[in-house]
Amino acid sequence: MDINTLREMAYKLMGNRKAHLEREKGFIYYHGLRVSKISLKLREVILPEDSSHDDIIVAASLFHDVAKGIEPHGKHGAVLAKDILKEYCTEYEINKITEIIQYHTQRKKNNDYSEYIKIVQDADILDHLGTIEIWMNFQYYAHKDEPMQNSVEFYSNEFKTHVENCRKLLNYDVSHKIFEDKVSFVYSFIDRFKKEAEGEFSIEI
Ligand SMILES: [Fe+2]
Ligand SMILES: [Fe+2]
Repeated sequence: MDINTLREMAYKLMGNRKAHLEREKGFIYYHGLRVSKISLKLREVILPEDSSHDDIIVAASLFHDVAKGIEPHGKHGAVLAKDILKEYCTEYEINKITEIIQYHTQRKKNNDYSEYIKIVQDADILDHLGTIEIWMNFQYYAHKDEPMQNSVEFYSNEFKTHVENCRKLLNYDVSHKIFEDKVSFVYSFIDRFKKEAEGEFSIEI
């Protein structure tokens, strides 16, 4: 399979699509691109000797949310991807790619998942934390036309539970390491955000 061709196809399908009401057009395309990069980095740590499925991991990451909005999007995405990729991939590749897409949302449901499935599951979660999380949060309140104070309130009251729920779903130690770094950045951001939203400073004057 030719990854550049697949990337172009992914862009055509998702680059301008609005898959979530409260997110900008194209989010799923750029999210897929990031997930593909994060997945490869995780694979290098988790399976350092095994690059045999890298193209499969990248293709699955690019298209993992192709059916977002048609729930369950993992299941529907696998069917869609099978059709989209049939002229570009071998049968083995399609089977592996659609398996990853199908199970990317069913985390911790089965101990028999391949490492490739678990890697993409973790990469998907990791792309929802850190600066990306802040971006999505701001997009959400902007689309709802709500004041900054509602975002401050979310970070004060609900963010901690959100983080705990995401953390439980991770499969690997290296994912936890990246996760904690991203979360600690968001907490430092929240500290400042709360102050500045009230017209306060972070330094003594
Ligand atoms: Fe998804
Ligand atoms: Fe995703």
